[in-house]
Amino acid sequence: MSPPDRGTEVICEHVRKMFEGGRIRALEDISLRVGAGEFVALTGRSGCGKSTLLNLIGALDRPDSGTITVGGQPLAEMGDLAAYRARTVGFVFQFHYLIPTLSAAWNVQIPMIGLERSGKERVEHARRLLADVGLGDRVDDRPGVMSGGERQRVAIARALANNPPLLLADEPTGALDSATGADVLALLARMREQYGMSILMVTNDDEIAHAADRVVRMRDGRLVPATPAEAPQSD
Ligand SMILES: Nc1ncnc2c1ncn2[C@@H]1O[C@H](COP(=O)(O)OP(=O)(O)O)[C@@H](O)[C@H]1O
Ligand SMILES: [Mg+2]
Repeated sequence: MSPPDRGTEVICEHVRKMFEGGRIRALEDISLRVGAGEFVALTGRSGCGKSTLLNLIGALDRPDSGTITVGGQPLAEMGDLAAYRARTVGFVFQFHYLIPTLSAAWNVQIPMIGLERSGKERVEHARRLLADVGLGDRVDDRPGVMSGGERQRVAIARALANNPPLLLADEPTGALDSATGADVLALLARMREQYGMSILMVTNDDEIAHAADRVVRMRDGRLVPATPAEAPQSD
């Protein structure tokens, strides 16, 4: 459907973020690059700043200093961040945040509303996405009758609704048992193969992290330099 090289490059340079008037230094000096179409896992203890970094890249919040550039465009210079969030970024969280009163197909259509697709195209695209994530026969079901893994699949279909070149996933398997988590991870990897988007995924699970092309670790608001064993081979 989409060309396989449509991921976008993310560059963070010297990003800092504090909370509570500087008492909490969430991000100290983060410089990180995610290549176009690359799948990067971000790990580290609870509270080290992973979600804060993801939220800044997703323009849900702004850094105090430093720059974040996505697809060559600095976020600070983008006039319409709502359009950036709607078209460039797909979000998947630990909890699915589906609307309980709506069917799977309607949940997946929500991000498409107000953009160029007609109502009929929205329905067709939602059905196609749900088939892609293995839920072609569940389009009319509400989240309440689905398993945790199925709900997260719907959330992934919703995140992909506008074909975003960047997927940000914050502990997408964190609320699932390990077998279901592995299935959801395999789905993310397959969606990357199919759609070619870049993925930055936060996880606390080393096994999950190692499915990515590269693992980046954080500690206390900073990136931990790769150890020689983790660094790319130079030969
Ligand atoms: N909106 C906020 N207000 C105040 N403190 C926050 C806020 N968001 C995050 N923090 C703090 O910033 C630090 C990093 O948090 P977070 O990015 O959520 O870590 P992680 O996702 O790695 O667990 C923590 O000390 C957290 O309590
Ligand atoms: Mg977090």
